[in-house]
Amino acid sequence: MSTTEQRVAVVTGAARGIGAATAVRLAAEGRAVAVIDLDEAACKETVEKITAAGGRAIAVGCDVSDEAQVEAAVARVAQELGAPVILVNNAGVLRDNLLFKMSVSDWDTVMNVHLRGAFLMSRACQKHMVDAQWGRIVNLSSSSALGNRGQANYSAAKAGLQGFTKTLAKELGKFGITANAVAPGFIVTDMTKTTAERVGMGFEDFKAAAASQIPVQRVGEPDDIANAIAFFTGEAAGFVSGQVLYVAGGPLD
Ligand SMILES: NC(=O)c1ccc[n+]([C@@H]2O[C@H](COP(=O)([O-])OP(=O)(O)OC[C@H]3O[C@@H](n4cnc5c(N)ncnc54)[C@H](O)[C@@H]3O)[C@@H](O)[C@H]2O)c1
Repeated sequence: MSTTEQRVAVVTGAARGIGAATAVRLAAEGRAVAVIDLDEAACKETVEKITAAGGRAIAVGCDVSDEAQVEAAVARVAQELGAPVILVNNAGVLRDNLLFKMSVSDWDTVMNVHLRGAFLMSRACQKHMVDAQWGRIVNLSSSSALGNRGQANYSAAKAGLQGFTKTLAKELGKFGITANAVAPGFIVTDMTKTTAERVGMGFEDFKAAAASQIPVQRVGEPDDIANAIAFFTGEAAGFVSGQVLYVAGGPLD
């Protein structure tokens, strides 16, 4: 594909973790990448990794749960990089607590970042995909969608994203747009580090305990998820839509 035809990808929550690995991976696949996160300065490292390898990327500060910020961010991407036709809704937060201790604010924050954020970003990007008659949307679900103690808010949001994904697949398919979800198991990032701290375990012990329960006997790395996202966003995946792929080192109960 020539530079003028280079497809533009938006990856949210791409300052670090799974989002950063995905942005770098999609750039390596030849995509121009908008690296979106809450703080534009925090996106610098990911952008530099991409440009140092000869790719094209810009950093964009945006709270995905804020409608005006999302509209402005997507307009900026379209102007500076080109029309976004690949979207990875990856931005995420945890506000874990047992139900009886969970505040309304803990509930709302998780719903707003995961569900409202994915809705706003998808709505803003889909018009560019419809214009191009080609698009790829990938939403980050989680093994927690199947239920996880202390995560009533997060598991509801991640299960909600699976329904959202299937609906987008049905609505947008006729425009050449696919929508799929990747549901990671345990991946080594700041998010799982924070969980280890919350339960009072050292991160190494926490990882070892998790690995012992996983059929392939290791925890996942951000690249394990970036690989699955690269497949769903690829040119060859146009007949794969509305799917949820658990990437967890084994099947889940
Ligand atoms: N790490 C895991 O084990 C795991 C497992 C299953 C699913 N996931 C999901 O994968 C995604 C990435 O997780 P991670 O482990 O890389 O997390 P992380 O905490 O390392 O990174 C998340 C990124 O999202 C950004 N972000 C948070 N709120 C935002 C907002 N409102 N607007 C824009 N950006 C925002 C953060 O600043 C951060 O850079 C999340 O959706 C998470 O729920 C992670």
